[in-house]
Amino acid sequence: MILDVRSIDTYYGLGHILNALSLHVGEGEVVALLGRNGAGKTTTLRSITGLTPPRRGEITYKGGSIAGLPPHRISKLGIALVPETRGVFSYLTARENLEIARRPGSRWSMESMLERFPKLREVLDRRGRFLSGGEQQMLAIARALLTGPELLLLDEPSQGLAPLVVEVVMGTVLELKRERVSMLLVEQNAELALRLADRVYVIDHGMTVFEGTPDTLRADPQIATIYLGVGG
Ligand SMILES: Nc1ncnc2c1ncn2[C@@H]1O[C@H](COP(=O)(O)OP(=O)(O)O)[C@@H](O)[C@H]1O
Ligand SMILES: [Mg+2]
Repeated sequence: MILDVRSIDTYYGLGHILNALSLHVGEGEVVALLGRNGAGKTTTLRSITGLTPPRRGEITYKGGSIAGLPPHRISKLGIALVPETRGVFSYLTARENLEIARRPGSRWSMESMLERFPKLREVLDRRGRFLSGGEQQMLAIARALLTGPELLLLDEPSQGLAPLVVEVVMGTVLELKRERVSMLLVEQNAELALRLADRVYVIDHGMTVFEGTPDTLRADPQIATIYLGVGG
């Protein structure tokens, strides 16, 4: 097991968002985290990466406790987050955005990222704020990989993207899966996530309401209808 989240409670001020939430990711496993808007998916990723540390519970990564560590320490241990907002620096060029992320020891090089996302090569000298949504998403993923993660957390990578770009992004997730990168994939688009995931959690109001395989979830129309707004 690469990541083990055990019964965490996370708050924003007085707002109690995650309630005894548990989940785990195995080595090389792709785990989907689903749930409707406001369910607590982003907060879960923020809890893992130390941006909003849990007040109670335990998080272990490769067997060591990480709950309470500052975000830069957690990142150095090999956990990379591709945030919902993508976090591209708008006044830096695409190349500069990549260069500042680069860390010695990453199994991915700048060149391999440009091969993976040929579109990025064309816009290397363009500033972040002039990149399209799709280019920003590819840049955000490339940047995360240049830090050399063993666990990649993706927050709604398909959100707001044209179908063709969604295919590129999801193709990348599939390639990374073949390279045995462990991933926690947050998606609003449940069908998309279910195609790629080995296992699935559905959360609602910061609590787990389903845990199982994509097939078990598909066979449970009630969960899909109530918590995902699909199927029925
Ligand atoms: N910075 C914040 N301050 C206060 N409440 C927040 C903040 N961010 C999110 N929330 C609340 O926490 C809940 C979970 O949000 P979030 O984790 O972003 O959900 P999801 O990613 O599943 O859509 C929501 O009710 C949301 O309104
Ligand atoms: Mg979110």
